[in-house]
Amino acid sequence: MNVDLGTIVESLKLLGLKKGDTVLVHSSLSSFGYVEGGAKTVIEAIINCVGEEGTVVVPTLTGKREDGPDNSPIFDVRNTPCWTGRIPNEFMKDLRAKRSLHPTHSVSVIGPLTDFLIKDHENSITPCGKKSPYYRLAEKGGYILLIGVNQESNTTLHTVEELAKVPYHMQKVPTNCVIIDYDGNRFTRNLYLHDWGTPRNFQIIDNDLEKFKIMRKGKCGNSTLRLINSSDMIDYVLKKLNDNSEYLVKNENKDKILNQVQNNNL
Ligand SMILES: CC(C)(COP(=O)(O)OP(=O)(O)OC[C@H]1O[C@@H](n2cnc3c(N)ncnc32)[C@H](O)[C@@H]1OP(=O)(O)O)[C@@H](O)C(=O)NCCC(=O)NCCS
Repeated sequence: MNVDLGTIVESLKLLGLKKGDTVLVHSSLSSFGYVEGGAKTVIEAIINCVGEEGTVVVPTLTGKREDGPDNSPIFDVRNTPCWTGRIPNEFMKDLRAKRSLHPTHSVSVIGPLTDFLIKDHENSITPCGKKSPYYRLAEKGGYILLIGVNQESNTTLHTVEELAKVPYHMQKVPTNCVIIDYDGNRFTRNLYLHDWGTPRNFQIIDNDLEKFKIMRKGKCGNSTLRLINSSDMIDYVLKKLNDNSEYLVKNENKDKILNQVQNNNL
């Protein structure tokens, strides 16, 4: 299937994305079929939908499984590539875009809310907490757009895990991370990093988000689109996690979490 700028704009409008919206986009370019003009076309389509008064955010994640106190990440905001796909890598090269300085969970942003969203991300003691762009986007009534990917790519679910203080999400000791800013200044921040040890089942929330009208689904070419109200999702999942801290964890790992909870309570 072939899609072009106009097709993507129409599909996003139909999904509910509108002028002035703030939106965090997780994406797979190949999910559409063939896109005329590639990643740049998708980026222009999203910017076109939210207009000059809207703000577009992409995750430009760089964290690796081996990051930790014995293996400090070195993050150069100007040229450390991200592993979140062709669209974010193209987006952060755009002259209008500005990237936050977090060593593992940076985002790149275009639009009027840029400074508000990225400010102090490098001083956020955890990657997705209340000082992070993920939480701040929700505070501003923003949306999460999943293009051809499912809830497993929904980074804001880590925000909810942080709010619920689940025992498996963060490494137990902080890491001295090296950060290089836009002017080439090098500095360190002692931050708690993501713990990669617990596989999640984020897709468990998908049906409920649609049922409770927190999320709308649509199509564009071969791609399935999901538009999620971030704040409503956080509220919904936080209740679930407060009732059961293993809610987002894959079944076979639940015993491990239970042991951690018991040990933490000793
Ligand atoms: C990993 C992931 C990016 C892979 O998706 P993908 O569609 O295969 O890859 P990209 O989005 O990088 O797009 C590049 C691919 O699109 C295809 N492509 C290239 N030009 C294209 C075009 N004009 N039109 C359509 N597809 C095209 C190619 O297959 C290309 O792969 P190649 O570079 O190996 O040739 C995706 O599955 C994913 O997980 N995205 C979300 C990441 C995220 O936000 N994670 C957060 C975790 S908490």
